[in-house]
Amino acid sequence: MSNVVVVGTQWGDEGKGKVVDLLTAKADLVVRFQGGNNAGHTLVVNGEQTICHLIPSGILHDDKKCLIGNGLVVDPEVLLEEMDNLTQRGIVINPERLSLSEKAHIIMPYHKALDLAREVAKGKDKIGTTGRGIGPCYEDKVGRTGIRAIDLLETETLREKIKTNLKEKNFYLTKFLDAEPLEFQPIFDQYQSMAETLRPYVTDVSIEIDQAIRSGKKVLFEGAQGTHLDIDHGTYPFVTSSNPVSGGVCAGAGVGPGKLHHINGIVKAYTTRVGSGPFPTELLDETGDYIQERGAEFGATTGRRRRCGWLDLVMVRDSVRFNGLSSLSITKLDVLTGLENLKICTGYECEGERIGSRPTSLNKLAQCTPVYEELPGWKEDITAARQMDQLPTETRNYLTRIEEITEVPLSIVSVGPMREETIVLKDPFTPPPL
Ligand code: GDP
Ligand code: IMO
Ligand code: MG
Repeated sequence: MSNVVVVGTQWGDEGKGKVVDLLTAKADLVVRFQGGNNAGHTLVVNGEQTICHLIPSGILHDDKKCLIGNGLVVDPEVLLEEMDNLTQRGIVINPERLSLSEKAHIIMPYHKALDLAREVAKGKDKIGTTGRGIGPCYEDKVGRTGIRAIDLLETETLREKIKTNLKEKNFYLTKFLDAEPLEFQPIFDQYQSMAETLRPYVTDVSIEIDQAIRSGKKVLFEGAQGTHLDIDHGTYPFVTSSNPVSGGVCAGAGVGPGKLHHINGIVKAYTTRVGSGPFPTELLDETGDYIQERGAEFGATTGRRRRCGWLDLVMVRDSVRFNGLSSLSITKLDVLTGLENLKICTGYECEGERIGSRPTSLNKLAQCTPVYEELPGWKEDITAARQMDQLPTETRNYLTRIEEITEVPLSIVSVGPMREETIVLKDPFTPPPL
């Protein structure tokens, strides 16, 4: 019995997709448990790139089942488009391979309209959301006015819910946000039609997972976003509206905590962030540009240039605590090749005091300066390395310091975007010896 959770430890885009695709080989089921199509998870297999927004990153393994849990907010138009794109590429998509939880909440056109109009209204204080309607959809879920996948399948419920919601949303859009109102009929028609295509995929995902576990199958849970974008633990309000931390799995997939055996935290070898918000180790110089260019740091969802900076282990250590990490996967190590010296942030200096975790107050965080440890870089191309002893000494020292400072063992080291450009130190699905 062995189930594994993969979570991002920074601000998203750590390379979760690549690691999930790799680990799917050992799993039977792959389950997303939160977020929506704000996520962009990139897989590179046989030289071909695939970006998953809603469908779990295990989908390229044709004998594995992918499930979209109740904790997600799902834009059905995006889901159908993603299913179509994969089908056109010869990947089999049918209810044997893909399920959508009947409890997942549905992103409606008014959620997207509200998301966009609010960001405009916020002006320079905007969050820099992906504009996909994520926040407004989660608000309706918590406000108990949301539309779930099951409601899509019940025509009269759908009609009533859209009508009731539109009244309030249109008032808010027009009177407060100076935006255009939306019409009932086109929305109802479009969603009813999409519901028919999705109907065979809508199931009770919690029961499916339970049955799989009972029959000895292995489950891989795929997080989206990252720990510091978590609605509770992230750099609030510059966060997303879900819980990307490992605890989110239980609520977002309908499984008990005792069924989670290994939590793998993905750590990019440096730090990036898309959108607004604090970023203590951000590099606004040529080193930042070097990392941005070598790492091709553009958002997989919105195409925005990602902000880049040194590896912040204060953040990662916080993530160890929030997620209960069992092991770390270090990604994009190859991007650092060619830099003379590398810096790792090991603490913050704040109002004359040295602190080891991120303060909750953004005002206090703004007063913090990173405390760095400097390490020598390396010049060698490391993308062909498949074992630790094929890495230069400086590269291994960098990894060792991460392990020492976080006090969590490494299980995977990624040296390139392709599936095989990976060093596997320990298989997260293999339980530790008793
Ligand atoms: P995710 O959202 O965490 O799945 O990450 P993204 O897919 O948004 O961003 C990670 C990017 O880095 C993608 O373009 C990946 O193809 C790429 N990538 C993943 N691992 C590596 C690696 O080890 N080296 C390099 N150079 N690129 C990588
Ligand atoms: P993956 O799964 C990086 C960021 C947005 C914005 C904030 C809120 O690919 O790692 P939202 O649209 O969620 O309301 O935006 O969160 N954000 C991400 N940044 N990777 C992601 O996902 C993200 N999903 C949301 O840029 O700052
Ligand atoms: Mg991404």
